[in-house]
Amino acid sequence: MIDADAGALAALCARALNDPPTADELTRALLVDPAVRVLGDPGVGVVACALDGTVGSIRLIVVDRPARRRGIGRTLVHEAETHLRQAGATSFRVGGDAPRYLWPGVDVTELGLLALLEAAGYARGEAALNLEVPLHAPPPVPAEPPAEVTGDEVAAWCRTHWPHWEVEFVAAAERGGLTAAVDEHGIAALCARDVLRDGWIGPVASRPDLVGRGAGRAPLLHALHALRVAGRTRAEIAWAGPLRPYLAVGARPGRTFVVLRKAG
Ligand SMILES: CC(C)(COP(=O)(O)OP(=O)(O)OC[C@H]1O[C@@H](n2cnc3c(N)ncnc32)[C@H](O)[C@@H]1OP(=O)(O)O)[C@@H](O)C(=O)NCCC(=O)NCCS
Repeated sequence: MIDADAGALAALCARALNDPPTADELTRALLVDPAVRVLGDPGVGVVACALDGTVGSIRLIVVDRPARRRGIGRTLVHEAETHLRQAGATSFRVGGDAPRYLWPGVDVTELGLLALLEAAGYARGEAALNLEVPLHAPPPVPAEPPAEVTGDEVAAWCRTHWPHWEVEFVAAAERGGLTAAVDEHGIAALCARDVLRDGWIGPVASRPDLVGRGAGRAPLLHALHALRVAGRTRAEIAWAGPLRPYLAVGARPGRTFVVLRKAG
């Protein structure tokens, strides 16, 4: 359910978060999802949540800085859980929300949020890494230009090989943020950029028979150069899977996130 004004939410985030999503990012990473419900008051604090199967997911929680430590965050978590339980949730999660997420989990430096969730009964689970690639001198752009692929080809490729990445890759194709490599069997690898957050790279995927054989390197390099040409000085690899393909193009440590869960 889309029941929130992206501008008011973005203004709250700009006041209250260290990494505030823009109104456009909030819309495409959160509010376009019809499952998302936003509760609270954008003047003070909000929680955005969604049911994913039987898992109730908290995708954004933010309380304005002057209003903190008055119990508002605790109340928002309780309201989200109550809504999600009524919708059918049998457990809860913060983070791990592909294909629509603003962060892959809770940034480990957000100790207040981690403490709030700990107090609410959540246990910390797996880590998710965002890597950073400085763009002042990326490896040379491949001589071969990025391959032209249609949105329909991308959707069909994803349905065959990587269904859970279809939403992000198709969105990238529609937004002009997709680079591709092809071979005699069709699409060999795809790299998406600027899909959920501006300046983010991901997902990146090779056809299963090519995994580990460097097929993703050319689309990744084309994406890095596109971000550089657009004026960015750094790219953020979102929720990195294998590390070696990114280390090979100059990736450095970025941000670490943790996914939290609670039984219903
Ligand atoms: C985390 C956040 C939502 C807490 O909101 P809040 O209204 O201040 O929280 P509450 O007053 O309900 O706190 C409830 C409990 O959480 C814990 N807590 C919250 N903030 C804390 C902090 N800074 N340090 C230690 N414990 C904290 C405490 O146990 C607290 O209970 P207490 O005040 O009785 O000790 C708020 O600080 C915030 O918006 N931070 C940024 C969140 C963020 O990064 N969001 C993006 C990812 S989703």
